[in-house]
Amino acid sequence: MPRRAFFRGTAAALGSTLLPAWGCGGGASSQNPGSAGASAARSGQRIALPAAFSGDLGARRAEREVWSGTRTALWTLGGVYPSPTVRLAAGAAFSVRLRNDLAEPTNVHWHGLVVPAEADGHPTDLLAPGTTRDIAFTAPSRGGTFWYHPHPDRRTAAQVYQGMAGFLLVEDGVDRALGLPTGDRDIPVLLQDRRRRTDGAFTYAPGPMDTMAGYLGDVALANGTPDAYLSVSASPYRLRLLNGSNARVFRIGFDDGRAFFVVAGDGGLLERPATTSAFDLGPGERAEIVVDFSADPLGRSVSMRSLAFASSGMGMGGSQGAALSLLRFDVDRQAEAAPWRPPALLDPIARFDPAAARRRRPFLMQMGMPPSAGAFTINGRSFQAGRVDVRVPRGELELWEIENGSTEAHPFHVHAAQFQMVSRSNSPLGPHESGWKDTMLVWPNERVQILLRFDGPAGLFVLHCHNLEHEDAGMMLNLEVA
Ligand code: C2O
Ligand code: CU
Ligand code: CU
Repeated sequence: MPRRAFFRGTAAALGSTLLPAWGCGGGASSQNPGSAGASAARSGQRIALPAAFSGDLGARRAEREVWSGTRTALWTLGGVYPSPTVRLAAGAAFSVRLRNDLAEPTNVHWHGLVVPAEADGHPTDLLAPGTTRDIAFTAPSRGGTFWYHPHPDRRTAAQVYQGMAGFLLVEDGVDRALGLPTGDRDIPVLLQDRRRRTDGAFTYAPGPMDTMAGYLGDVALANGTPDAYLSVSASPYRLRLLNGSNARVFRIGFDDGRAFFVVAGDGGLLERPATTSAFDLGPGERAEIVVDFSADPLGRSVSMRSLAFASSGMGMGGSQGAALSLLRFDVDRQAEAAPWRPPALLDPIARFDPAAARRRRPFLMQMGMPPSAGAFTINGRSFQAGRVDVRVPRGELELWEIENGSTEAHPFHVHAAQFQMVSRSNSPLGPHESGWKDTMLVWPNERVQILLRFDGPAGLFVLHCHNLEHEDAGMMLNLEVA
C-alpha cells in the first residue's frame, strides 16, 4: 500500500501499519460485498473511508454520486467529499499550500488544534478567489481526532454544508500500546445530516426558522454516504465519530441498546474509559467509541442510530431530536481479534484545579427575534470584525461559565486552547466530557463551567457557537490571547 496517507514534506512520516487496509479511495470501496457468503441482498450503500491526504487541499468545485443515480455538485477541499484525511505524528510539523478556486473567499480552520493565529483560519483572514496561501503549524503532542473546515465570516455554514470538511488525525502511539482496535477496525466516521432532494443537490437556502434551529436535514450521511452500512467481523471496532453537521445534535446509540466504551473526546484519549449506551454529540464535537461485535452471530445487523430526544427548540426543517439512522454494521465474518477489555487507565490527564483559577468569566448566549444577523449574541454582542471582545492573558488558568439564555442548544467552541469541563447545572457530564474538550453542548437554560489556560501562541482568535447558522448570524466573539 502506498504511504500516501501521510504528508511527507516536513511531517515525520508514520508507519504504514497505521493505514486501514481498505477503502482509501474517495469513492466506492473495492471490497466485494458478496464475499461473506451468508448475507443476502442488502439495502443501502457501503460506507467508504475518506480519501487520504496527498498534499492537495485546494478549494474547488467537484461532483460525486452521493445518492446513487444522481450527481451532487459539491464544494470541496482537495476535490473530494468528505475532504481528505490528514494523518500526522504527534508533534510533527505540517505545511500545506492552500489555493482558492471557488468564486468567493474561503479559508481553513484546524478545529481543536492550537496553531499560530495566522494559520488558524480567523473568519476575517481569507483567501480571495484565485489566490494561494502557505499554512504551517505543529501537530499537538497528544494524539486525537481533530478536523478541519472553512471559517469565513457569514459563509461557514454554506461552505461546510456543500461539502468542505475533513478529518485530521494525530497519532502518538499510546492508543496502540493500549491495544485499541487498529487498521481496518479503526474507522473515522464523519456524521452530517442533509436534506434529501429529488435532484440530489446539497442546496443551502436557510429561511428564518432555519436560522433559529440551524439548517437541519432529514437524513444522516456517514462519510458522505446515505443509508450507510459496513461489513464487519465479530470483533471490537474503534469508531472515531465526528459530528460535522451544521446544527444537528446526535444522540449516539445502537438499535439493540447495547453498551459500548467511550475512550476519547475532542482532544484525545480520556483518562479512563466510560461505558454507556447513549450520549450526545453536538456539532463540532468528536468522540471515539469501541463497540464490540464479538458476541454477535454471523448474519446479524446492528445499527448505530441517533436516538430520539425531546427538544424545546423551534426547528421546522426536520426537528432537532428526531431519530436518524447513522451506520449499519453487518456482522458477516469470524472474529479477527479477541474482545477488547479496556484498561482502567487509558492516558493520564493533569487536572486543572478550580481553586487555582485566576478569574471567572461569564458568557451568556442569546437569540433575539426576528432571527436575523445581529440577533444572535454572546454577552450582548454580535460578531464584529476588528473589535476585540475578550482579552485573555497567556498562561493563566481561567474559570469560564457559559450560560444558555435561549430555547435552542448551543455548541460552544473555543479556538487556541483545549479546556476541561467542571460541571453542568442541569445534568452530569457526559461520558466523553471527562477529558480535553474544545466544543461542548450548552442546553437551554443550562450553565456549564469549564477551566482553561491559553498556553499557545498569542494573537487574534475566536470563540463561537458551532451551530453554523448561529455562528454566521453573529454568535461569535473575537478572542485576543496576549
Ligand atoms: Cu470548527 Cu471556529 O470552528
Ligand atoms: Cu475551532
Ligand atoms: Cu447556537
